Parts: sequence; C-alpha cells; structure tokens
Amino acid sequence: MDQSYFAVESQFAENCLVDNDKYLEMYQSSIENPQQFWAEQGKRLDWIKPYTQIKNTSYAPGDISIKWYEDGQLNACYNCIDRHLPEKANQIALIFEGDEPSQSYSITYQQLHDNVARLANGLKSLGVSKGDSVAIYMPMVCEAVYAMLACARIGAVHSVIFGGFSPKAIADRIVNCNAKVIITADEARRGGKTVPLKANVDEALSRDDVTSITNCLVFKNTGAQVAVNSSVDVCAEELMAKVPADCPPEVMNAEDPLFILYTSGSTGQPKGVMHTTGGYLVYASMTHEYIFDYKAGDVYWCAADVGWITGHSYVVYGPLANGATQVIFEGVPTYPSASRIGDVVDKHQVNILYTAPTAIRALMAKGDKAYATNNRNSLRILGSVGEPINPEAWAWYYQNIGNGQCPIMDTWWQTETGGIMITPLPGATGLKPGSATRPFFGVKPALVDSEGQILSGAASGNLVILDSWPGQARTIYGDHQRFEQTYFSAYKNMYFTGDGARRDEDGYYWITGRVDDVLNISGHRLGTAEIESALVAHPSVAEAAVVGFPHDIKGQAIYAYVTPVEGTELSETLTTELRNWVRTDLSPIATPELIHWTAGLPKTRSGKIMRRILRKIAANEFEQLGDTSTLADPSVVDALIENRLNK
Ligand code: PRX
Repeated sequence: MDQSYFAVESQFAENCLVDNDKYLEMYQSSIENPQQFWAEQGKRLDWIKPYTQIKNTSYAPGDISIKWYEDGQLNACYNCIDRHLPEKANQIALIFEGDEPSQSYSITYQQLHDNVARLANGLKSLGVSKGDSVAIYMPMVCEAVYAMLACARIGAVHSVIFGGFSPKAIADRIVNCNAKVIITADEARRGGKTVPLKANVDEALSRDDVTSITNCLVFKNTGAQVAVNSSVDVCAEELMAKVPADCPPEVMNAEDPLFILYTSGSTGQPKGVMHTTGGYLVYASMTHEYIFDYKAGDVYWCAADVGWITGHSYVVYGPLANGATQVIFEGVPTYPSASRIGDVVDKHQVNILYTAPTAIRALMAKGDKAYATNNRNSLRILGSVGEPINPEAWAWYYQNIGNGQCPIMDTWWQTETGGIMITPLPGATGLKPGSATRPFFGVKPALVDSEGQILSGAASGNLVILDSWPGQARTIYGDHQRFEQTYFSAYKNMYFTGDGARRDEDGYYWITGRVDDVLNISGHRLGTAEIESALVAHPSVAEAAVVGFPHDIKGQAIYAYVTPVEGTELSETLTTELRNWVRTDLSPIATPELIHWTAGLPKTRSGKIMRRILRKIAANEFEQLGDTSTLADPSVVDALIENRLNK
C-alpha cells in the first residue's frame, strides 16, 4: 500500500459536510468575495443586534487595524449555552473524565447554564463587571469551563494561565493584564500527582507588585487543606450556592475583548494575545464544525488543556457554540497506563479525537500497550495539533488508534490565529502524512523569500498570510506597537507567522517549524529569551544561550549552554539545581534537557551570540557549521564540539 497518499474514500465523503468540489467552490468564493462569504457565515451565531459591516481590516504599515462584524452585538456565553436550551437542555454538554478512571460524570446544557450563571453572579457580587480582567488558574475540570464562560457572560475578559506555570508566571500575567479576581482550585491532579494551585497563587499574590487582585475564588478539587486568607479568598461553591442560577448575558460589541492569552515570542516577556468576541466565535465555531465534520450526536474529545489556545477554541468556544457533546479530560495519556486514551474512547464512545503528536509519540514508545485493551471502533475522525507530525507518528496514529479507518486532520495554527488555518477537511482532502495540506476557507497563505518576494508553485520559504480572517488576534494587550513589530514588520502588508514551510506541486503545505527563536517543546511554545533570563537569574550563572534540539518524544528539547560565574565549582548537584531552578521559575515544560557548562560562547566581534552554530552542535551536526570566520574567538567552537552532550 502506498503510504504517502491517502485518498478520501467516496463512501466516507458522502457522509461528510464538505466534499472536494464543495471545498473548492467555497474556498474560491471565500477568497474572491470575503465580505459576502463571511456575511453568510456570521449567521451561524445568534446576534443581539445584527451586523451590517463585515470586514474592515488594514495591514498597512503604521495602521494595523483588524475589525470584523464591528457594528454587531452578541454574547459569546449565550451563543455557547442559552441558545441551545430550547432543544438541548437535557443533552449532555460535558462528560468529565478525571485523572483517576473511576471519576467521571456528565453535565447537561441546562446544568452548564445554571453553573455558569451562578458563577457569573458570584463574580458580579465580588465587583467584577464588563471590561474587568479575571485570571483563571485551574485544573482541567468542568469548573475551568464554567469560569471562562462566566466571564464571557458578564463581559469580563478572562486570561487563563496554564496550571503548570509557576508563581512567577502567574504574578507576571496578573500584573500585565491588571486582573481584579483570580479563579483557582485547591489542587490539580495530573497523572497521579497533585499540583498545589492555591499555594502557587498565594505565592504569586505575595509579590509586592501584584496589587490589582481583590479576591481569589477557590474551587474544591482534591479537597486538600489549603491556607485561607480571609480578606481575599472566597469559597467558590459557597458563593455559587448563595446566588441565583439566572444571569442575563451582557450585551457585547463584536469587537469587545473576549480573552487575553499569554504566549511566548522570540524576545522578552510573554505577550498577551488579545481576541475579541464576534469574529473569533464565528471562526472557532465554523472551523470546529467543518474540520471535525461535527454533526449532532457526535461525541467529541479534544485532549488539550484550557490553558492553551487549543483549549479555548476547541474545548470551550468552538464545540459549545456548536452545541456539541464533549469529553473534558483531567489527566494525561499515559496514566494510569498507556491504554488510557483508547480506554476513554471506548468508555465514552468517542467519535472524534483531537490530540498532539507528542502524546502520540509517548504512546508509541510504550509498544502495543496503547491499543491492546480497547477497540476504539467508535472513532471516525482524528486530529493533530501543535507541531509537525512526523510520518512515523502519523502512521502509528492512523493504524493503531484509528484502526486504519479514520482520516487524520493535521491542523496548523497558532495562538494568534484564533482557529485552524491550514488543514485537511475529512470528506474533501486526500492526505499526505506530515502535511497540513490546504488552507481553510478565507485563509490566503503564501511563501516568501528573505526579501519578502512571494514565491509561486512548489517552493520553500517563510509562511505568511496575505489577508485577515475573522479569528485573527487584534493586538497584544497594552502594546499595539509590539503587535505590529512582531507580525507585520518583517514583510510589508502581510501577517508573518514565524514558521517556515514548503509547498509541493499539489499546493499542499508542509510546515517545517519556527524560523525565529521560539521553541516547540511537546507542542508547547517557549521563547529562548525567557529560559535564558531564568538561567542567568541563578547566582552561579554568568551567561546562557538556549537552543532546541531534536527529541524523540518531545519533538524538540532544550539544550542550554551556560557560562558559570568565575570561581564556581561545577558539579552534578549544581546542574540538577539549575534544572530545578528553571522548572520552578518558569514551568516544568521549560526544564533544560541538557546543560552544557562552557567557559565561552561563540560570539561575533560585535558580541552577538551565533545561535546557528549552537543549534548545529546541539543537534550533533557539527560537520556543517558554515562560516565561522566572523567569530571573535573561533577556538570556542572546538571546545564546544569536544564537550557536546548530545552525542
Ligand atoms: O510552529 C507552529 C506550531 O506551533 C506554533 C504555534 O504555537 P501555539 O501558538 O502555542 O499554538 C499551538 C496550537 C495551535 C506554530 O507557529 N504548530 C502548530 N500546529 C502545527 C504546528 N506545526 C506544524 N504542524 C502543525 N499542525
């Protein structure tokens, strides 16, 4: 069997929303007449005041301005819950699957409504109103979904902080978005371990510059005893019991902010990517429906955490706007055993599974344990997101999880794009393992060379998007100039993604990875600058340079070159201490895999570190180092090669 191309089976396509002819026709109309196309698509939502303006966007230098449906009014929470109630009050919205397989329960749309409305009223009673920011630092439980939707209901702007982040990361984000309230839980459970969420929040709130928080709302999750600061902490369950289950949704303008989500860039502090209400929700809902071919009655499971954009668009807003039934999973794919994903699929009869290549590679490494105890016959469609999926992992996912019958949607997108941009559609697109294939409706990708010239035909270059789409981020919170600088300054009049890609003779896109100093560790985005600043904050570190190197399971792992302060005694203990230091300062995801102590780093005469060389040495590809003649001290390189850690 040819393993490089998987055509769409005609019988499969017949039962899908879109076949190839329809894809081509819809794609063409979305590009030729975006105003009309998106005017029509906007109708998938319920609007309080219908829009008359559709697209009003500019990528012009000095005037980056993105507005969609700007005179329309709506409420995102109403669209995700209330409008489904006449028909779906008793339909299951959320199927909770706990970290321990024994913990599961279901929530109907009516129950979802009541919980969200109570929490919304609770937030109001704490003085939160339209336009205020609320930080959310939660386990992956139904209450995290309630928290996001409760904010949307009252017009508060949520900023979810991934439950694996450190107190410092929490504090930085609270300060940046000026959050008034933080919603958390006693502890999170993940893979049989607990994470002290409330204690981390307490530490964050104790920092002198964290002054905006008036209350900390605490859910019970594990039931652990946690310290209580009675002037700030409020028990979420008690508060919700005191208020009515009825809270009118706030009237929001389409361009009012819905959320801020922090993500790493190539320089400086993480940036607060801001998404607004109308265009984002139209795009999340439409992509979810078409890409996963979602139909009423399907059980859908996106295994991402709500701390990431995938959790925002494809756990909360997309599926719920479409009235879906979905699994909310607190755990990890390998706990209590490598069969967990397949077991959960069988248990809840999941039809659509959306996960990440790193999870697949972790299961692959366990041999046949992932599929030996389950049959996964309910599955119809698979999805992949977060990083390029290597053909071996693709084939394993296809054969062993999908029983050779479920097409894999390899979805390329970013925090900034709000929704999926390049992807197959199940009934329309023949698959090539490793390729994200073709653009979604309304998306105009292009490849450019280093001068910004658009390349035609089969080519390799930097991936840009030539025009706006409704789900696009509007700004970086509080720093529109950085928004313009980061995404619109490299190439005039285009959105620069930061990714490199190849386009083949069939027009399929193959994403090759970041071309900037952003790393992708297990599908999680980290800036080298953030990790370096955590390293140099350690008293024994004089200088640090961080690069990524290929890793079998994580995709990419962190290789840190570190120059010690003079007189430091190097030891295993110090190396371990430094790894833990970064872990605590940033997050376990940011822990360097390898720490290479070195007396010097390869620098140009003007003092710039030549990362190109460091990347090659880390990848154990030092034969082709390229030109090293501009180095101030070329002998540094020989020492680095000699002592390289990835042999
Ligand atoms: O490099 C691309 C990679 O993940 C980056 C975006 O990361 P983040 O904003 O955290 O969002 C991740 C989830 C949408 C991109 O710039 N990436 C994401 N999906 C893919 C991918 N690379 C290759 N193939 C994908 N399917």
